[in-house]
Amino acid sequence: MGKVIAMGNMKGGVGKSTAGCFLANYLYLSGSTVCVIDCDNRQTSLSDERMIDIEKGIDKDDTYSITALKSSETHAIVRTHIAPEYDYTFIDLPGNLDQDGSLECYLKCDEIILLFNVTRKDLLSTFKFIEILKEEGYKGNIVGLPWKINPMKKEWHNFISETPEDNQFTHKSSMGIPVLKTFVKNDEVSFDRNASTSTLFKNSKGEIANEEVLIELKNYLKNV
Ligand SMILES: Nc1ncnc2c1ncn2[C@@H]1O[C@H](COP(=O)(O)OP(=O)(O)O)[C@@H](O)[C@H]1O
Ligand SMILES: [Mg+2]
Repeated sequence: MGKVIAMGNMKGGVGKSTAGCFLANYLYLSGSTVCVIDCDNRQTSLSDERMIDIEKGIDKDDTYSITALKSSETHAIVRTHIAPEYDYTFIDLPGNLDQDGSLECYLKCDEIILLFNVTRKDLLSTFKFIEILKEEGYKGNIVGLPWKINPMKKEWHNFISETPEDNQFTHKSSMGIPVLKTFVKNDEVSFDRNASTSTLFKNSKGEIANEEVLIELKNYLKNV
């Protein structure tokens, strides 16, 4: 039985789908079998993007799988019918918990990788999300993944520093969950906004920089 993982947050636009694709692609290229279940029923964006990729010539037999499935159906079958077939099964969910079956999907996961930015608004919604998962009896692991971070900003330094200067609220220990160091280093790693389902991170010299961005996350998943 492989791991069932959701890139989480009950907020849209934090980078769940994008980060999920990068990670799924990276794990596939490292030799794992990977499936992404596209449960964003309204947008089904990943399935659409994959179709465009195939039209552009991506070999559909040499990449990870993407399957569109309703969240109201996914939670009932993910562990029995999908996860046994792959090393990693990702569930890509919409940016709120209103869609039928969304919360149930999260509750079925072994891991929730919680993406967030270090702003007060993002952190508040992230704390609330952790609280809801606990109230609903979530038994798996939750790990924080700072994303869309500008490493030059004071709020980021305050968040990671041992002794935050002013606002304790933004210190990482207040998350109450492990937080990975991995983040997208804007100054060193370029991010393609029109990222396809099999895009790689590149550094400023145009070299592939997936290891830099995703290695800690990959090691985390190997060790839990
Ligand atoms: N690290 C990043 N840096 C800059 N833009 C990003 C980054 N990750 C994602 N984006 C962009 O942010 C937008 C929302 O990302 P998306 O993955 O669709 O979020 P979600 O799935 O959480 O709604 C997209 O336009 C995407 O290209
Ligand atoms: Mg999304």
